[in-house]
Amino acid sequence: MSSLQVKVLRRREEAEGIASYELARADGQPLPPFSAGSHIDVHLPGGLVRQYSLCNDPHEAAHYRIGVLRDAASRGGSIAMHEQVREGDLITISEPRNHFPLHAAPHSLLLAGGIGITPLMCMAQRLAAIGASFELHASNRSRARSAFLDELKSFGERFHLHLDDGEASQKLDLPAVLKAAPVGSRIYVCGPTGFIDFVVATAKAQGWPTDQLHLEYFGAAPQDTTGDREFEVRIASTGQSYRIPADQTVTAALQAQGVDIMVSCEQGVCGTCITRVLEGECDHRDMYFTDEEKAKGDQFTPCCSRAKSSVLVLDL
Ligand code: FES
Repeated sequence: MSSLQVKVLRRREEAEGIASYELARADGQPLPPFSAGSHIDVHLPGGLVRQYSLCNDPHEAAHYRIGVLRDAASRGGSIAMHEQVREGDLITISEPRNHFPLHAAPHSLLLAGGIGITPLMCMAQRLAAIGASFELHASNRSRARSAFLDELKSFGERFHLHLDDGEASQKLDLPAVLKAAPVGSRIYVCGPTGFIDFVVATAKAQGWPTDQLHLEYFGAAPQDTTGDREFEVRIASTGQSYRIPADQTVTAALQAQGVDIMVSCEQGVCGTCITRVLEGECDHRDMYFTDEEKAKGDQFTPCCSRAKSSVLVLDL
């Protein structure tokens, strides 16, 4: 994945704890095009790399815009972004990648929890531009923590704001929203794990097919690692075997022994590290693959997933 150096053109406080950053090439050249739902890796001061969704209109080739929630409980990425990245700074990013693309549908339901609004705002701009039918629901803790409200209001009746501290009548009645959607609609959801799980459970209970449900997690739930044990990884091309200790990920253990697998999020969200599995049983810990893909067991995310069998043979 090639990287780009960009300049922070503008930093804006969008809501309590949420800042947006407008990024453009320092030489004024256009940036690589992107589609709605794309994200970029941002290389932060201190060596951290984090993924952020692009939230501007995909037509705007001159700049990318990301929205970042300052999350004190995070692993440091959002704090570095908020405290150390200033207007005028040069930072390194990846080209955009899209694991959360839009699909043709008679109607699109965009459901955002908190800062999960970023890829969905980009999708709403695209759907509005092509005249497609959609509705966008943003659920936030309060109005003060609701980012991009002026832009979102431009979607008129297609935009619905739901506040945890507001009147009962404006709260998100998800079962009713899903029931009212025309046949063949697609659901796009982004937000905290609990919000996504709630949407998925409600849709499944109403019999929505899983291929009409599209999810984007922006952070992994903490894993219970107490039962983790050691196993062996064999590299198919060389026949070499490597021990993966109970307290190390496959990618970290292999890297320590000179076998590099490219990683980005290192928490099973982005799909960068996907590796084919030729033999053995995976213990999937990611949020990238669907249940069907996990059941196949022919690929896994070695940045966080492990093995149920004593040996995994990887197609490397
Ligand atoms: Fe992102 Fe493994 S590095 S899923």
